[in-house]
Amino acid sequence: MGKLKIKKSVKKFSLITLLLSIILFISIYSGINIYQQKQYEKTYEYKLINHGYDEDDVKIILEKYKNKEIDYILNTEVNNNYIDLLNDKYFIYDYFYDYLEYQKNNLSLANRNIIEIINTKRNNEYYENTTASDISKKDLMLVNKYHYLDDTYTPDNLVTISQDYSWGELGSQKATEETVNAFIKMWKAAKEEGYHLMVSSSYRTYKKQDAVYKDYEDSRGIEYADTIAARPGYSEHQTGYALDIFEKNNSSQKTFHETEVYLWLKDNAHYYGFILRYPEDKENITGYSFESWHYRYVGTDVATYIYNNKITFDEYYAYFLK
Ligand code: DAL
Ligand code: ZN
Repeated sequence: MGKLKIKKSVKKFSLITLLLSIILFISIYSGINIYQQKQYEKTYEYKLINHGYDEDDVKIILEKYKNKEIDYILNTEVNNNYIDLLNDKYFIYDYFYDYLEYQKNNLSLANRNIIEIINTKRNNEYYENTTASDISKKDLMLVNKYHYLDDTYTPDNLVTISQDYSWGELGSQKATEETVNAFIKMWKAAKEEGYHLMVSSSYRTYKKQDAVYKDYEDSRGIEYADTIAARPGYSEHQTGYALDIFEKNNSSQKTFHETEVYLWLKDNAHYYGFILRYPEDKENITGYSFESWHYRYVGTDVATYIYNNKITFDEYYAYFLK
């Protein structure tokens, strides 16, 4: 009898233990689940999905934005621009808020234009918020309406361009050595096509640029002058890397773009390291009217990239060199 009772109470005990274990297990299990859910709710992934972004967008946001920007995104309405901006090839992270601010005030502009404008400082008036050019970048230094050279800057490797290739008095045309060497190569290639290239303007001192600008200002007024000439200190001609190139029989700023030699130059200059610096459809970025004659030496790699991607040097500099 004793044995049977013991057996029964062991059975009862086991059942209770089992039940208790099950209850304990369920409690622990759901506790863990609740805990995990609470933890998940603290993540940006959850918050973004909860805010209204779909999973693909969330993936992109988490991959590309840092905490500060994600907090900003969560504090504003769902906006596809946060993703679209990221997808632009030349999106610069540090300018995130500038893009958004500019967009708010220019709702009709495409993101591409907004990025172009902000990257190149075009949201500032010309000659406002200027900085000194980084001359250590040599043939990749940027000189434009926001980046200047001081009045004493002179390139240290200027060489004379022979009168075979340039107009003007003997010794009056100079450029940096690499610019002249590249130009001579291009000159020879053009000659083989039957074109005789000539340089009409090359290195200009600060003082010379002052005179060039004043001439335009005196004859046509400041507004016109600013579309065609740089103010002293702001001209690429002072770098020694810019050349104004025409054909021996045509030095007309008005008609050069209609010539065959212009078409040849436009599509071949990059093989020799030159870019057409102020293209026809980029006035808003470069700040100058189309100059079919003004070429800038940047080396073949950069020139080829700029040519293939149809961007300006200002944009290239902002994204790759700054
Ligand atoms: N014509 C170009 C913009 C210059 O003056 O440098
Ligand atoms: Zn020029």
